Amino acid sequence: MAKFLFVTDLDNTLVGDDKALLELNDRLEQSRQEYGTKIVYATGRSPILYQELKDEKNLLEPDALILCVGTEIYLDGSHTPDSEWSEKLSSGWNRDIVVSTTTAFPELVSQPDSEQRPFKVSFFLQEEDSQKVLPQLKSELQKSGLDVKLIYSSGIDLDIVPHGSDKGQAVQFLRQKWKFVAEVTVVCGDSGNDIALFSVGSERGIIVGNARPELLQWHNEHPADYHYLATNFCAGGILEGLKHFGFLE
Ligand code: GLC
Ligand code: MG
Repeated sequence: MAKFLFVTDLDNTLVGDDKALLELNDRLEQSRQEYGTKIVYATGRSPILYQELKDEKNLLEPDALILCVGTEIYLDGSHTPDSEWSEKLSSGWNRDIVVSTTTAFPELVSQPDSEQRPFKVSFFLQEEDSQKVLPQLKSELQKSGLDVKLIYSSGIDLDIVPHGSDKGQAVQFLRQKWKFVAEVTVVCGDSGNDIALFSVGSERGIIVGNARPELLQWHNEHPADYHYLATNFCAGGILEGLKHFGFLE
């Protein structure tokens, strides 16, 4: 056994099976203490909603947090987003133009204020409207000269973020900072905003057994032997995958 960089989504990936989560936490904490494994959470949640989940579930203290779908990185328990990362996201981004462009689309329903962040504008969008709205919205945003990315997850959540940011690119930033190669980095997820974790490089990937159709479809269209589709759900699927890749016994 050796150290690795462990990156996981929270909702319906790390969290969702309390019993398996306890076992996984034990194993990860042991690997962190013995070998220096690093633990990173990569979630769409804002700091407020992350704190709520952390209080509710027994989450280990992570070595870094990727919040707001990759637009904010918090290192070593800091409460201030990493400024090097924020600076990278600023070019080609204009929050006011994004917001004003979206007002032309009545199908977009604003998410709560806590989820509106400097580099993330978020809506609820019904699945049946998404096929029509997403391409139109994308082209309107392009016309405004913005370099942004639309991330649609779980048939409801739409995040508009700078082009250079998503969970996967945030992981690359941490990998380089901490000097972990892709072969000893493992990423875990269940839904649309996790596709970036799997698509950005050749990190080892665990797709939990309860993954959403959008991630399963992406996985089917982009098969790779360094991606593992687990049978078990949530933390149970992560344990299964970590053993498959030899990160745990
Ligand atoms: C979390 C965030 C929400 C976001 C979703 C998908 O639920 O709170 O703002 O849209 O993740 O990324
Ligand atoms: Mg999830």
